[in-house]
Amino acid sequence: MAEKINGKTRTCGLIGNPVEHTLSPVIHNNLAEKTGKNLVYVPFHVEPDGLENAVKGAYGLNILGMNVTVPYKTDVMNYLVEIDEEARAIGAVNTLVRVQGGYKGYNTDISGLHRGMLSDGVKISKEAVIILGAGGAGKAVARLCAAEGAEKVYLLNRSVEKAEALAASVNKEFEREIIVPLGISEFGKIEEDSCLAIQTTSVGLHPDSDKSPIEDTVFFKKIHTAIDIIYKPAETRFMKLTRENGGKAYNGLKMLLYQGIIAYELWNGIEVEEDTAGWIYGLLKKELGIHE
Ligand code: ATR
Repeated sequence: MAEKINGKTRTCGLIGNPVEHTLSPVIHNNLAEKTGKNLVYVPFHVEPDGLENAVKGAYGLNILGMNVTVPYKTDVMNYLVEIDEEARAIGAVNTLVRVQGGYKGYNTDISGLHRGMLSDGVKISKEAVIILGAGGAGKAVARLCAAEGAEKVYLLNRSVEKAEALAASVNKEFEREIIVPLGISEFGKIEEDSCLAIQTTSVGLHPDSDKSPIEDTVFFKKIHTAIDIIYKPAETRFMKLTRENGGKAYNGLKMLLYQGIIAYELWNGIEVEEDTAGWIYGLLKKELGIHE
C-alpha cells in the first residue's frame, strides 16, 4: 500500500477506544483498491477527554469521513454540524461524512443489519419478531421492525422495566401497539409458533461463548430464523440452539460488512456492487478464521 500513497491520497478512519481489534480497515482499504479510489483507512485510538479535539482535528486535517465505535457513538453527536434523522431517532452515530463546516452523522449499523438480512433473503414484513435485549442495539432493531412492517414484536429483556419503557416509546412513535415488552423468562406468553428472532444482547460474545440469554428448547422451537448481531464466535450458542431445534441462524458478520459498505458509499458517492460486497465478506471470514 505504501507505494500507492501520494499527494492526492484521502484519509478515512475509525474513532474508538479500543480500536486495536477492528476489522474495518480490511473492509475499506480493500474497497478502495477494488473501486479505484486513492483512499486509506486507519484506526485512531481516542481517549475519553479527546473526542471533541479528534472530530475537529479530523475536519482540520481534511479527513473525508470517519467511523465511530464504542464508547463514543452517542457522545460524538455533540460535535457534529448535522445529524441524519434516522441516526437522531436511534440516538447513535457510527459514521461521519464531511460536509461544509464539519461532519454530518449517520447510523449505518441498522441500515447495515437490514441490508445484510435482505442479502440472505430474511424479511421482516408481516413477521412475528422476537428481539432479545433492550439496550441501544435492541432499541434500533425494534424501530427497524416497526418501520419494516412486522406483524408483532416481542421485546424480551432481563430487566423488564427497560423493555417496557422502550416499547412505550416505539409504540408512540409509530402510533401502533406493535412492541410487546416481556421479561426474558416470559417467552411462554409468545402466541406465535414460527418467529424471526434477533439477538442483540452481549451474552455469548467471545470469550463467554458458552452462554445464551435463553437456553430453553421450548423457546427455540418457536424460531424459524435467528440473527445474532455477534460475529465472534461465528456460531454463538444462541445460533447453535436455534439450528439444533430446526431453525436457520445467521451471525452479525453481514451487519459488520454492510455498515462498512454503506459508510463507504456515503463517503465516496458511489454504489458498491454485490459481487464486491461478497468478495469483502470472504476477506472478513478469512480474517476471522471462518471456513465454511
Ligand atoms: P448495546 O448498546 O450493545 O445494546 P447495552 O445498551 O449495554 O448495549 O445493552 C446490553 C443489553 O444486553 C441489555 O438488553 C442487557 O439487559 P439489561 O437491560 O437487563 O441489563 C443485556 N444483557 C447484558 N448482560 C446480560 C445477561 N447476562 N443476561 C441477559 N441480558 C443481558
